Amino acid sequence: MAADGDPGLFESIYSMRALRRFRPDPIPDEVLFQLFDAAIRAPSGQNAQDWRFIVITDPAVKKKMQGWAEIGWSRYQPDLSAHPEKIDDLPRTQRLTLRSVQHLVDNLHEAPAIIAVLGLQGRHSTPGGSTFPAVQNLMLSARALGLGCSVFNLPMRGGDELLELLDIPENNQLYCLLPIGYPTDRFGPVNRKPVKAVVYRERFGERWPFAEEQPDTGWQDRWLGGDA
Ligand SMILES: Cc1cc2nc3c(=O)[nH]c(=O)nc-3n(C[C@H](O)[C@H](O)[C@H](O)COP(=O)(O)O)c2cc1C
Repeated sequence: MAADGDPGLFESIYSMRALRRFRPDPIPDEVLFQLFDAAIRAPSGQNAQDWRFIVITDPAVKKKMQGWAEIGWSRYQPDLSAHPEKIDDLPRTQRLTLRSVQHLVDNLHEAPAIIAVLGLQGRHSTPGGSTFPAVQNLMLSARALGLGCSVFNLPMRGGDELLELLDIPENNQLYCLLPIGYPTDRFGPVNRKPVKAVVYRERFGERWPFAEEQPDTGWQDRWLGGDA
């Protein structure tokens, strides 16, 4: 049975876009616990459950991570990071996304929390396959509870210094970072390639006529309403 205010699974899926601007309000422990208690219901190879999570709220640690995010951003987008005003000239969707990335690069230390997601090195033949299901559970649960987040790996530029700062043992791998908090931007809808472009029947490349008849936005209107 869904709890009061829970948007439900499909509305959550269709509206869980990457949110990168947060109110300063801390996340209560009981809310955090619910996120992790849902995250760890995910499947993992051999049910190994070798995922580990660190909730980072220490201002000094977040500030260090913000510095590494700046370095990561300047290496990834040297031109835009040196001239942020150029973002204003980009097409709308790109402009809005990159502005929000730039905002988080500049303000990562103000995020109420950053979750680091880890797994055992070499434990699985498909690295990440036993970690990201839990990440998705966590992100969808965050959406359902009115929290915004996204994967934000730019601070991983910190490399070994970051691992040392967080006391991460050598046998663990850092998979991703999730800044999280109550968002100031609105949820969804998410823009994705249509089903017909990515799903084949029987063999790679073979059409699926039913999918071709569906609107390019898929069935999001069923869950978000026509004005989404
Ligand atoms: C593995 C992975 C790494 C990502 N790394 C970053 C990142 O370093 N910085 C960032 O701003 N977003 C990052 N993202 C978020 C994606 O850019 C985002 O999920 C995608 O653009 C879709 O955004 P939307 O859900 O708002 O449409 C990452 C996502 C994934 C799954």
